Amino acid sequence: MRSTWLLLCLGLLALTLVRAEENEIEDALSDIDLDENDEEFLLLLEEKNKNHDVERENEIAQKLAEAQHKLLNPVVEVDPCETMFCGAGRICQLNKGKPECICIPECPEESDTRRHVCTNKNETWSSDCAVYQQRCWCDIKAEGCRDPDNAHLHIDYYGACHESRTCDGEDLKDFPRRMRDWLFNVMRDLAERDELTDHYMQMELEAETNHSRRWSNAAVWKWCDLDGDTDRSVSRHELFPIRAPLVSLEHCIAPFLESCDSNNDHRITLIEWGACLELDAEDLKERCDDVQKAAPHLLG
Ligand SMILES: *[C@@H]1O[C@H](CO)[C@@H](O)[C@H](O)[C@H]1NC(C)=O
Ligand SMILES: *[C@@H]1O[C@H](CO)[C@@H](O)[C@H](O)[C@H]1NC(C)=O
Repeated sequence: MRSTWLLLCLGLLALTLVRAEENEIEDALSDIDLDENDEEFLLLLEEKNKNHDVERENEIAQKLAEAQHKLLNPVVEVDPCETMFCGAGRICQLNKGKPECICIPECPEESDTRRHVCTNKNETWSSDCAVYQQRCWCDIKAEGCRDPDNAHLHIDYYGACHESRTCDGEDLKDFPRRMRDWLFNVMRDLAERDELTDHYMQMELEAETNHSRRWSNAAVWKWCDLDGDTDRSVSRHELFPIRAPLVSLEHCIAPFLESCDSNNDHRITLIEWGACLELDAEDLKERCDDVQKAAPHLLG
C-alpha cells in the first residue's frame, strides 16, 4: 500500500520534473511529506538508477572506443608510399615508418644509344633517369653532384646530342601539313587503342566522319592535352612531350614550335596553335575535357 503511494509519487515527480534542475528536484522532494523509511527507499531507487546510468555510459564509451580504434588502426595495412608522389629522379622510401622522397639511388644501365638524352647544356647522358638523378643530387647538394648548375639540368631532346641540322625553307613550309596529319593519326591511334576519354572519343569520331573537322579536332585535342595545368595556354615547358621525342627525327619540329608562339610571350594560345598549323580560327572551338586531368595515367 505504502509502496504504491510512493511509486505514484515518483511517477508524478518524473513527469513534472523531467527537465528541472537538480536543486529544484531536491526542493520538490522536501515539499512532499516522507517518513524516514520512504526516504531510504527513494535513495535506494536513486542509487540503482545511477548505477544503471553508469553501466550504460560505459557501454557507449566502449563502443565508441572500438569504432575509433578501427578507424585509427585499419586491418588492411596500406603502404604509405603508395599515395606519395615523388618527382622525376626521386623514389619514395620509408624512414621510421614515414614516407619520404629520396634521390633514386641507381639508374638502370643503358647501352642502347636510343635511350641517350641530350640536355640543355648540349651534353649527352646515358638515360633520362641519369639526368633526373643528377638534378636531384645537385638539388640536395649530395656528393654525386658534378656541377652546382646541374640543379637546373633538363632534357632538351631524346637521343644523343647532334649537330643542329638546319630546317630549310621548303621543309618548314611543308611542316604544318605534316604536323596536322601526324596529330590526326596519333589521335586515331589512341582512339583505336581505346585510350581517349569519352569526350575526346566523340571528337575523334567527328573528325573521322566530318572532313572539315578532321584537322581542327585533332589540333584542339592535342592543344588541350599539352595544357597540363589547364590554364588555357600551352607554355614552352608544356611542349616537352611533343618536342623532346621528335627533335632527333624531325629537325623542323623545334623551329616549327618556335614559330607557333607568334607574339613570343612563351605561351601558345589555341588561336596561335591553329595559325601555325594553318587552320581556320573559326574551326577552332576550345573543347577541352578537364575531367581527364584527374586521370592518373597523365602523371606518367
Ligand atoms: C652540341 O654537341 C654536338 C656534338 O657533341 C655538336 O656537334 C653541336 O654543334 C653542339 N651544338 C651546339 C648548339 O653547341
Ligand atoms: C561538319 O563540320 C562543319 C564545321 O565545323 C559544320 O559546320 C557542319 O555542320 C558539320 N557537318 C555535319 C554533318 O555534322
